Amino acid sequence: MKALNAIRLGGVDVLPLIEGGKGISVSTGLSSGHWAASGGVGTFSAVNADSYDDAGHLVEQVYRGRTRRERHEELIAYAIKGGIHQARQAHEISGGQGRIHANILWEMGGAERVITGVLEGARGLIHGLTCGAGMPYRLSEIAAKFGVHYYPIVSSARAFNALWKRAYSKAAHLLGGVVYEDPWLAGGHNGLSNSEDPQKPEPPFPRVKALRDLMRTFGLGETPIIMAGGVWWLSEWEDWIDNPELGPIAFQFGTRPLLTRESPIGEGWKQKLLNLKFGDVFLNPFSPTGFFSSAVNNGFLKELRARNDRQVAYSTEPVGEHIAEYGLVPLCFQVTRIPGISRRPRLFSCPIFPRGGQ
Ligand SMILES: Cc1cc2nc3c(=O)[nH]c(=O)nc-3n(C[C@H](O)[C@H](O)[C@H](O)COP(=O)(O)O)c2cc1C
Repeated sequence: MKALNAIRLGGVDVLPLIEGGKGISVSTGLSSGHWAASGGVGTFSAVNADSYDDAGHLVEQVYRGRTRRERHEELIAYAIKGGIHQARQAHEISGGQGRIHANILWEMGGAERVITGVLEGARGLIHGLTCGAGMPYRLSEIAAKFGVHYYPIVSSARAFNALWKRAYSKAAHLLGGVVYEDPWLAGGHNGLSNSEDPQKPEPPFPRVKALRDLMRTFGLGETPIIMAGGVWWLSEWEDWIDNPELGPIAFQFGTRPLLTRESPIGEGWKQKLLNLKFGDVFLNPFSPTGFFSSAVNNGFLKELRARNDRQVAYSTEPVGEHIAEYGLVPLCFQVTRIPGISRRPRLFSCPIFPRGGQ
């Protein structure tokens, strides 16, 4: 196994090992603080993070507002308090070693206000911002306001091209690195584009090479690329380390740190993850975000998959391959029939693939 050298990230030398940010309080001040204390980069999630009172009790997020707007304000206040708490805890545990990053989800309500509030309340404790899910064009602007580095998460060179040209080129000096999150291998949500097939994974090396080639055209040949997705044993990535084709590279771990002592997830989940079989984790289309996501095939997902299989795609006019008249009228059509319009709607589905919501 090749020796792993330190990498320059966000202005300091650190181990090229990063704990990826994980929402729903999975990567916290506790996990990221320990990661940083060991000389790497820890990322806590600043998405509706938990906070604790002076006695160390979890502050329950109870919403008392009478209107949606009032409750939204409460949510933002909880999220800011929680993010500041996690940053302080991470900082204390790290003892000033490594780097602490905060992860945000651009698509969440009030994302900009939340991260601005967290950065204001935890000045000097957060060294970098990571953000994926969508196209976070404003990430560089927010980072520049606080003088911290930013690390966009992309799944293709194409996405970075758009982000760079529209926004990031204006704050190039604070671009700490680019996270390539492989859309087939990574845990969590996955940035598959419409032209990519969830069932047909592509090898990551050519995609990361394409990202590096593009970055070189922007003068970013020495900006680290952070490979995320399916990284477990570094020995499996030996040909990526010190490879001049790829340039400076670091590795981000998402799933593996779930099994550490410092991970705040329950023991039941740790045991479940340790006992999974091949095929138990798969890409599913059920996340309300609209992104594909990888998850353990539990009872809930099995039910959703079964429903999906039973669904029949239809149109109210014969269009494209929807040419076969479908005899049954779904219940929703029957109960929502407009009084006075007596004609029963005619529905058309595909004669070859009538099932599976195609
Ligand atoms: C349970 C879980 C939650 C995650 N939540 C987030 C998140 O909120 N934001 C994010 O950018 N990435 C999230 N990720 C992705 C990780 O940060 C990381 O990039 C990814 O897990 C790497 O792939 P791996 O799981 O194969 O190591 C999550 C991953 C997992 C497993």
